[in-house]
Amino acid sequence: MTARERATASARGKVILFGEHAVVYGEPAIAASIARGAHATATRLADGAPSVLYLGERRVSTAPSTPSELGDDLQRAWSALIAAAPCPSVDVVATAELPPGGGLGCSAALGVAIARALAALDDADDVGDVDEAATIAARAAAWERVHHGNPSGIDAAAALHGGCFIYTRAAGARPLRLGVPLRLAIGWTGTASSTHAMVDSVARLGERRPAVLARSVEAIAALVRGAEHALQAGDVDGLGKLLDLNQILLAGLMVSSEAIEAMCASARQSGAYGAKLTGAGGGGSVIALIGAATEPAEALAEREQHVLDGWQQAGFSGFAVTIEGLDP
Ligand code: MEV
Repeated sequence: MTARERATASARGKVILFGEHAVVYGEPAIAASIARGAHATATRLADGAPSVLYLGERRVSTAPSTPSELGDDLQRAWSALIAAAPCPSVDVVATAELPPGGGLGCSAALGVAIARALAALDDADDVGDVDEAATIAARAAAWERVHHGNPSGIDAAAALHGGCFIYTRAAGARPLRLGVPLRLAIGWTGTASSTHAMVDSVARLGERRPAVLARSVEAIAALVRGAEHALQAGDVDGLGKLLDLNQILLAGLMVSSEAIEAMCASARQSGAYGAKLTGAGGGGSVIALIGAATEPAEALAEREQHVLDGWQQAGFSGFAVTIEGLDP
């Protein structure tokens, strides 16, 4: 094992294709990592110094100096990540290419990138060993628990493993091979939302109307099973319909918003096969299925541009990604 003074690492963001919220209740969901994520550089400090995280304009320390810093989520997440396993004193500079609260796994990508940078300080040679992977996962889970309260772990799984996968709380991530690579447009509503708050609001709905929650979770689970087959078969028409149905069920859980509905409708009118919110909802992002990435390039590019232009004309931004289904 070689000790380094400084190390840099990255992790990817994700889209949930099907099954968000139901996954919190033990059902399967399908997610894919995307080629945007987070980066972190860790530098050793003198032994015994508090460890410090710089994230954008924010600076938090494991030894907070003000009461407001003590109650701060970022400070608590940073301290939890550091405390999850033995660690030298460090400073970490982290950046994200994803909107925070955007439903694209920004916080999990940050947690995993930071945990990987810490691991790389101690391990220049043995990258990928089992203990190191477990430590990275434990640090990322500690970070996510502060940010998300009761996370299913799907965001961290996407950042850790990459590729497209089906996930349950009990069994973790199982890679999914796609029949065809998919082209997706990802649109940003412009409003950040808190996964913690949205997961809590679904739980409160379940307290008020348990049968509604149970039926919705069951229906989403059935739809995820259908989506697994459609993804493996490369059935783009079927996938579009399943996206639209999943969106209706999510709206029934009260996690959609005016902007999400407007963006989904606009994408469908512009030629997308289907569209839905992705992540926790209440704001954040939507996904729209542009088509199989193997379709004739001109037709695909034209449809993609229509969808992105439609969003832009309505005041929303977006970008497109290809989901390959294999590890990057
Ligand atoms: C957030 O990306 C997905 C949710 O299902 C919450 C979770 O699984 O932790 C809403």
